[in-house]
Amino acid sequence: MSQSPARRTVLRGAALAGVACFGAAACGTREQESGTRPASDAPVELGPASEVPVGGAKLYAEQKLLVSQPAKGEFTCFSTVCTHMGAILNKIEKEQAVCPLHGSRFQVATGKVAEGPATRPLEEVPVKVKDGRLIAG
Ligand code: FES
Repeated sequence: MSQSPARRTVLRGAALAGVACFGAAACGTREQESGTRPASDAPVELGPASEVPVGGAKLYAEQKLLVSQPAKGEFTCFSTVCTHMGAILNKIEKEQAVCPLHGSRFQVATGKVAEGPATRPLEEVPVKVKDGRLIAG
């Protein structure tokens, strides 16, 4: 006995809904895997401020942050999550942080895009020095 056209339509719709649901779940998981920092991050100690060179920057891979010191005693901090597709910036060359996935480059002192495909600056994170140690967040 064959199914009525209406029943086939309902079944097809349910199957597509299942696919869409998988897609949504995968997107949520992918966002977490891409290194997006949770909004509830508490301040985190990064280590001695003296480890950040004046006129340069240091990557903190575990915390997914970079800290630069454009002038002596002046620090800026940014998320190392690339604003293009969420890869983690993994090296600093010529005062620019580099994304390994598609090659975007960001100025370490300002977080601004130096070279695409990214178009948005890095997310800035508050940073301060307490007793000679960097505190981010
Ligand atoms: S994810 Fe960084 S350049 Fe594409």
